[in-house]
Amino acid sequence: MSEIELEKKRVFSAIQPSGMLTLGNYLGALKNWKDMQNDYDCLFSVADLHAITVRQEPAKLRQQVYTTAALLLAIGLQPQESIIFIQSHVSAHSQLAWLLSCYTQFGELSRMTQFKDKSQKHADNVNAGLFSYPSLMAADILLYHSDLVPVGADQKQHIEITRDIATRFNNIYGDVFTIPEPYIRKIGARVMSLQEPTKKMSKSDENVNAWVAILDSPEDIMRKFKRAMTDSDSNVCVGEGRDGVNNLIGIYSAITHRTADQVAAEFEGKGYGDFKKAVGEAVVEELRPVREKYEYYIKDKKELEAIYKIGAEKAEKIANRTLGKAMKKIGFVI
Ligand code: TYM
Repeated sequence: MSEIELEKKRVFSAIQPSGMLTLGNYLGALKNWKDMQNDYDCLFSVADLHAITVRQEPAKLRQQVYTTAALLLAIGLQPQESIIFIQSHVSAHSQLAWLLSCYTQFGELSRMTQFKDKSQKHADNVNAGLFSYPSLMAADILLYHSDLVPVGADQKQHIEITRDIATRFNNIYGDVFTIPEPYIRKIGARVMSLQEPTKKMSKSDENVNAWVAILDSPEDIMRKFKRAMTDSDSNVCVGEGRDGVNNLIGIYSAITHRTADQVAAEFEGKGYGDFKKAVGEAVVEELRPVREKYEYYIKDKKELEAIYKIGAEKAEKIANRTLGKAMKKIGFVI
């Protein structure tokens, strides 16, 4: 192995296996994961422990873990390049999460916008796990000495608290954790609802036309983009308060790698109808190979199982070393 390979930066990210994954997940996170895997030393995880902060039906959760793992392979993550595993298979995540929760303050957890949103949405189940969710996420990231964490904009606050927890711990015990940086692309980091473009695109939106699932059929995708909310103007260009059009331009730019100005030039003199059709077609073509490969991986559970088991073994080696070091520093007998 060459020196340069040895010096590759470490990347970690994870995704919850809750429901269908969306175009927001894809453009905000998954697409970047795929693009990073050759240049970085990457670990990617299915965050099943995080998923149970809201009530899950057992059979459905199990199925969704398989679906999510198969999708990670379908988008082009390669087990030879990246470590792909299921979070609960590496028990160090739960263990370090407990330790870190003792170095996380009530006040800072109370300020997390995701906690505030989710506790409103699930008012009948505001459990301790939902509250201490960021300590588990900090454990995920810190176990692997991650330098970069590729996520969508909504996760920035969680990376910031991870940095605070790690810095606090290091200030007491010395250099145990690497302080991670969020990796958030300008384009695609916040894909908005197609129906209410001031809101984030989310799979929990009851209006199915508001979000695109990665596995949606081409017909469904085209229909959703044709119905996407725009405004009474007809110029395809970015502008203040033009949330719907801005969102569609962002999606198109993220897929075609064109700037907003290039998109505006491409559609000069054309109406929203042509533009929406083009965005829909770009999304269909981007997701087509993903859907096809997904069909392959989801059918072969044995291969899938082999991949995530090997992933967990590799992850565990790194994670246990960090956990052991942290425990020793705190003063546990090990
Ligand atoms: P999750 O499962 O909600 O989302 C997975 C990734 O998708 C991004 N994302 C979006 N990006 C752009 N536009 C959207 N509309 C959109 N919706 C979702 C998210 O920002 C995320 O990057 N807590 C995390 C999972 C997690 C994690 C971690 C992430 C657990 N441990 C450690 C990084 C590092 C979550 O709930 O993401």
